[in-house]
Amino acid sequence: MTFFFEPYKIKVVEPIFFTSKRERKKILEKAFYNIFKIPANKITIDLLTDSGTNAMSEHQWSKIMEADESYAGAESFERFCEEVKSFTGMDYVLPCHQGRGAERILAEYFSKKIKNPIVPSNTHFDTTRANLNYIGAETPDFVINEALDPEKYFPFKGNMNTDNLKIFLKKYHKRVPAVFLVLTNNSMAGQPVSFQNVKETREICEKFGIPLFLDISRIAENAYFIKKREEKNKSIKKIIREIISYSDLCYMSAKKDGISNIGGFIAVRDKKLYEELSMYLILWEGFPTYGGLSGRDLEAVAQGLKEATDEKYLEFRIKEVEFLGEELSKRGVPVYKPTGGHAVYVLAERVFDHIKRENFPGQVFSIALYLEGGIRVCEIGSLMHGKDAKFEFVRYAIPRRVYTESHLRYVAEISKVVLENKNKWKGVKLIKESPYLRHFSAEFVLL
Ligand code: F0G
Repeated sequence: MTFFFEPYKIKVVEPIFFTSKRERKKILEKAFYNIFKIPANKITIDLLTDSGTNAMSEHQWSKIMEADESYAGAESFERFCEEVKSFTGMDYVLPCHQGRGAERILAEYFSKKIKNPIVPSNTHFDTTRANLNYIGAETPDFVINEALDPEKYFPFKGNMNTDNLKIFLKKYHKRVPAVFLVLTNNSMAGQPVSFQNVKETREICEKFGIPLFLDISRIAENAYFIKKREEKNKSIKKIIREIISYSDLCYMSAKKDGISNIGGFIAVRDKKLYEELSMYLILWEGFPTYGGLSGRDLEAVAQGLKEATDEKYLEFRIKEVEFLGEELSKRGVPVYKPTGGHAVYVLAERVFDHIKRENFPGQVFSIALYLEGGIRVCEIGSLMHGKDAKFEFVRYAIPRRVYTESHLRYVAEISKVVLENKNKWKGVKLIKESPYLRHFSAEFVLL
């Protein structure tokens, strides 16, 4: 018999907040039905994101006490740098305050390199797309067709559609400064990318003389899937290093698989590229030995990267997502299958099949889930991605080492209540939006 439980125990606890349904109704009105505008102390279970919401370990907290806060040449940076080099196998490291700090630097670098750039990806994450669109770049996605069927089992539904990429590059390669691969593919239900797909994408890039850039924010989770489904005899650390060896640059939001609350980096092999990117780093993030982070943050990330490759930890992490997926399915909630790395993606359009996309079925689902049980989740559909949205997803992201099985059961039960009351909802109307990343600040009225 195999048991499945948290490979850690609890030393410090945080209170959970409870509200009444009446209170939540008022809170929603005040927040203009935007879940991002609800104060965290009015949330009971917060599955908005797994980003920066991780519980740090005793080792991370003890390293924080040893941090060196010097502006230049801090010991904490030395430790961070060594850990990132060992994790990635890259020689040059640029610390960034978080993922989008790195994305801004890369976008600026592209804009100076090529006129009207196009940056293809397996599926861009929203901040990546927004940073690239901001400098005028086009951002086409080339995910495999299997990903578009939420029922179909395929082990690596995050893969790049290499046939379509090839056809595209034949025509447009002169305008492409880099091809991006996101592992795991967050905007495509957190699905993993296979080792084989990374290699094939690399070969295509080489053929056209285009660099391959990796978004490795969730590469430890991706590596776990590779170990289970593709490369059984290799360690997680080795799989990560080998994947990255096929790229020219990788960047990470360490708020995910760095198991930290803030942080990130860009890592490259080439010194000239490092020097060029450093110029932007100093402009926007900070001196190259801290890059927008305190010594404490650098220490937490360095230690977090070590813990993220622990197989026991990863096994529990992936199984906990699977568990929530199964609990939801058992109660009739339609979920994208198989479940991916960090979250369960619910197919909101199948629940609210009477609500048109222009009235945001995914957003309605997230509002209903909050109203019924104080649970916060995130719409990843037409609100976030506009007409690029392939699904009306509602993402239940699980913060690392934070919630237990009973919390997740509660989430599944409340989701069932949403299903039972679906006809109460008619949709929402957007009354205010900003031109970039509108989901963060959009305002709605109920129909
Ligand atoms: N890349 C991926 C794949 C991400 O998921 C994120 C953030 C970023 C880049 C940007 O990193 O937040 O540190 O600036 N994802 C969060 C989420 C926000 O909720 O999925 P950041």
